[in-house]
Amino acid sequence: MAHPLYIVLLGPPGAGKGTQARRLSERLGLAHVSTGDLFRKHLREQTRLGQLAQSYMNKGELVPDSVTIAMVQERLQEPDTVKGVIFDGFPRTVAQAEALDDLLAQLGGRVNLAVLIQVPEEVLVERLSGRRTCRAQGHIFHVKYNPPKVPGKCDFDGSELYQREDDKPETVRRRIQVYWEQTGPVVDYYRARGLLVEVDGAQDMDTVTQALLDVVTAREDDEV
Ligand code: AP5
Repeated sequence: MAHPLYIVLLGPPGAGKGTQARRLSERLGLAHVSTGDLFRKHLREQTRLGQLAQSYMNKGELVPDSVTIAMVQERLQEPDTVKGVIFDGFPRTVAQAEALDDLLAQLGGRVNLAVLIQVPEEVLVERLSGRRTCRAQGHIFHVKYNPPKVPGKCDFDGSELYQREDDKPETVRRRIQVYWEQTGPVVDYYRARGLLVEVDGAQDMDTVTQALLDVVTAREDDEV
């Protein structure tokens, strides 16, 4: 069997990580692990972890590393991850990046590629204010750039589309600040290890997907 492929998607809030991770996961047959989606699932199910996470998410702050890492460790035990994973929104601190290296080493793997999706800040705010998210499974839409066929309803499962609590302008500003402070060093972490590639995320969604697929193919060719 080929080695599992572990890809980290980096980028500020609204860069398109979730949108592209879903597409790459389908195209490449890899599991999609989004820590934001996992926290929101816990929140829907009203678990203690969900309640804890909510108190941080609503302020635009990061959930503590120990909690986040333990949740990812558990997720990596699930069978759909054996061929590899697209990580979306994780790691977000250097401590998480180091923990991910340890977790993957235990599975006999390593991060093969980290892709930074670059988008100017003024575009991020517009994207987040127009985002609509599916209540049942987190499918992502945008009122202007990717509208659903029926307003307010998910194209895939018909569930209600809602606006995320943390997409309010003041929380968005804090999330972007937290990204530069705490996740900026993660970009440097992967750059220093020769694993970082940058993709222009300000292009239309299909062009970004193709750019990401090209980057993955190039890395696979390098590793053969
Ligand atoms: P999380 O859910 O990970 O949010 P995020 O990183 O802030 O990223 P977003 O989901 O906001 O944006 P995205 O890049 O996925 O963009 P999307 O594809 O939706 O985290 C939320 C919170 O959870 C954090 O603040 C923190 O509290 C906590 N958390 C999560 N992970 C954590 C961790 N590891 N450690 C600690 N705490 C953690 O696109 C945005 C919009 O733009 C959509 O409407 C989309 O349709 C549109 N769009 C996308 N691409 C394009 C394009 N090319 N052109 C036009 N529109 C586009």
